[in-house]
Amino acid sequence: MAVDPRRASDSPSPGAPRSGPGEDDHRALRARMDRVAHKILVLSGKGGVGKSTVAVNLAAALAQSGQRVGLLDIDIHGPSTPKLLGMEGQALTGDETGLQPKGYPCGPHGIRVISIGFLFQNRDEAVIWRGPRKYHLIRQFLEDVQWGDLDWLVVDAPPGTGDEPLAVVQLLERADGAVVVTTPQEVAVQDVRRCVVFCRQLDLPVIGVIENMSGFTCPKCGEVVRIFGADGGRNMAQEMGVPFLGSLPIDPEVVRSGEQGTPIVLARPDSETAQVFHRLSASLQSGASLSRK
Ligand SMILES: Nc1ncnc2c1ncn2[C@@H]1O[C@H](COP(=O)(O)OP(=O)(O)OP(=O)(O)O)[C@@H](O)[C@H]1O
Ligand SMILES: [Mg+2]
Repeated sequence: MAVDPRRASDSPSPGAPRSGPGEDDHRALRARMDRVAHKILVLSGKGGVGKSTVAVNLAAALAQSGQRVGLLDIDIHGPSTPKLLGMEGQALTGDETGLQPKGYPCGPHGIRVISIGFLFQNRDEAVIWRGPRKYHLIRQFLEDVQWGDLDWLVVDAPPGTGDEPLAVVQLLERADGAVVVTTPQEVAVQDVRRCVVFCRQLDLPVIGVIENMSGFTCPKCGEVVRIFGADGGRNMAQEMGVPFLGSLPIDPEVVRSGEQGTPIVLARPDSETAQVFHRLSASLQSGASLSRK
C-alpha cells in the first residue's frame, strides 16, 4: 500500500472535513483505533510555541517508561517530527495490510512514527492542499497504518484551529484530550485561549496548559530573565478553568538537541526540561490528568 498525496482527489467527499466518519465506513478506522488505549493531541492557537518539541519529548518520556507509543505528525505544511527525531529522508513503506510506521529507538518498544514528511523526499517541497484532501490523508494515517497495540498515540498538530486538528478530533471520536502549549506573552496567550474554546466546542477535554519558554536562566550569574514575560500560561489556565501542567524554561539545549535529532528527554535526561516531561508522562500514566479514563 502506498500514499501518493499528489494523486489523491482534491474533493472526494464534499464536506468531509466537517463531519466524522460515516456509519457505513467507520469500522476499519475504529478497529484500528480500538487498539490504541489513549490518544492525546498537542495543540496551540499559535505557531512556533513548541508544540512539536512537546510532542516528541512527551512521546519519548512515555516510551522511556516502558509504554508503547505512536507519534502522528499531522502538520501537513510544516512537518517537524522527522527533523526533531533525526529521521529525515526516510520513506513510508507498506503492503496490503497497511502502511508501516517508522521506528524511533527509544525505551523497550521504540516510538512508531508517521509524518507527512516521510512522503516527500525533497524537504523543500511545499504542499498546497484544500481541506478535504487533508482530511483524507489524516484518515489514511489513522486507518491504514499498522499502529498495532499502543498505550499512547501522541498527535502533533499544526498551529491554529483549522482543518487538521478538526479532522483528527472528529476521526478519533473520543480522544483523551489535548495538551495545549503556549508561551507567556499576551499575544500568544490570546490565540491559545481560542484553542481552549475550540476544544470545548468539540467536546475534547483539555488535559492542561504547558507554558513553554517561561524564562531563561543566565548561565553566568543564575539570574532568571523573563524574556517573554511571566506566568501568562499559568494565569490563562486559571482564568479558563483548565489545569496548569507546568513551565518549561528557555533552554538552548532544547534547540541543540532538536537540531541534532534527539529529544532533550534522551539527550539531557537530568535537565529541568526533561524532568517536566517525565512528570507529565507519569501524571498521564497514573490517569491523574485524564478525565476520560
Ligand atoms: N523551551 C525551549 N527553549 C528553547 N527553544 C525552544 C524551546 N521550545 C521550543 N524551542 C525551539 O523553538 C522552535 C519552535 O519549536 P517547535 O517546532 O517545537 O514549535 P511548534 O509550535 O511546533 O512550531 P509550528 O507552529 O511551526 O509547528 C524550535 O527551534 C525549538 O527548538
Ligand atoms: Mg510544530
